[in-house]
Amino acid sequence: MTETRILAPDPAGIIEAAAILNAGGLVAMPTETVYGLAANAGDDQAVAGIYAAKNRPAFNPLIVHLPDLAAVERYAVLTPAAQTLAARFWPGPLTMVLPLRAGARLSPLVTAGLSTVAIRLPAHPLAQALLRECGLPLAAPSANPSGRVSATRPDHVLAGLAGRIDAVLDGGACTVGVESTIIAMDGAAALLRPGGVPVEDIEAALGQPLLLPGDPATPKAPGQLASHYAPEAGVRLNATEARPGEVLVGFGAVKGQLALSETGDLLEAASRLFHVLREADALAGPGGAIAFAPVPEQGLGRAINDRLRRAAAPRP
Ligand code: TXA
Ligand code: MG
Repeated sequence: MTETRILAPDPAGIIEAAAILNAGGLVAMPTETVYGLAANAGDDQAVAGIYAAKNRPAFNPLIVHLPDLAAVERYAVLTPAAQTLAARFWPGPLTMVLPLRAGARLSPLVTAGLSTVAIRLPAHPLAQALLRECGLPLAAPSANPSGRVSATRPDHVLAGLAGRIDAVLDGGACTVGVESTIIAMDGAAALLRPGGVPVEDIEAALGQPLLLPGDPATPKAPGQLASHYAPEAGVRLNATEARPGEVLVGFGAVKGQLALSETGDLLEAASRLFHVLREADALAGPGGAIAFAPVPEQGLGRAINDRLRRAAAPRP
């Protein structure tokens, strides 16, 4: 057991977080999407610590977080189409899978031995400040035990990882609330995971449709398990009313005990999603069940529905 410290979102907190990372430790870092469990992506032992703290299957590669494009050039090759997306969406909730640059100093545990690397420039001011202060590429999966609900507040991080990581940098609640959109850009542009940047916006920027998951030409994102984001309670989707014993989570016109968004606002629903999943889980209690009202399959709704389908999938 390690004592997990909570670091304040001020210069002293950022300096302390950077020192822990430079010493090979683990820090939960706020980003605009979800909290990431960060470690030096160039340090095998530090990266192994992420897998251990999360109980994560070792074949699942990690996203490398960087402060700016100059840093990206050290680790990956930006094709012209990738440059277009970088100019439009970075920093922000977009991850691009890019060809790994020859000689890039990254732990093979980060890339899981692939010839590609997933890269993101987070927009959150604390993530930016920490990346600049520590001067390291930071590998960071979501800061939750593997397979469980992602963390969008410091108390969510502590609920899953207290005693297993060195510190949490306290950035309060994440604004976007769902993970980044992942696009493969090492060949034909393909959607690997819907997320914080709507697919429609990426297609508009590229001027062409993306290959979608399920298309035979789309590469499979390693680690996109069907069951994921699992609360303790069972989950039912597209519910318009609660069955006996269920906690109904409403959206728009469908009213429940809780709501993703009373007004049917997808931005609000995304930012509240993982918090509401946790609240519903606590309300449902042992052996309980959660029912979710339908959410439209457009814009951020695609990312929300992707997470809800995984939360509802049969558990391994
Ligand atoms: O918003 C986010 O993306 C958050 C914050 C912390 O940045 N991070 C996050 O990481 O969601 P994680 O580890 O939960 O999800 C990363 C996904 C993995 O499921 C993996 O399949 C995919 O990224 N991935 C990473 N490297 C890849 C690669 N080289 N090729 C294909 N997929 C990759
Ligand atoms: Mg995750």
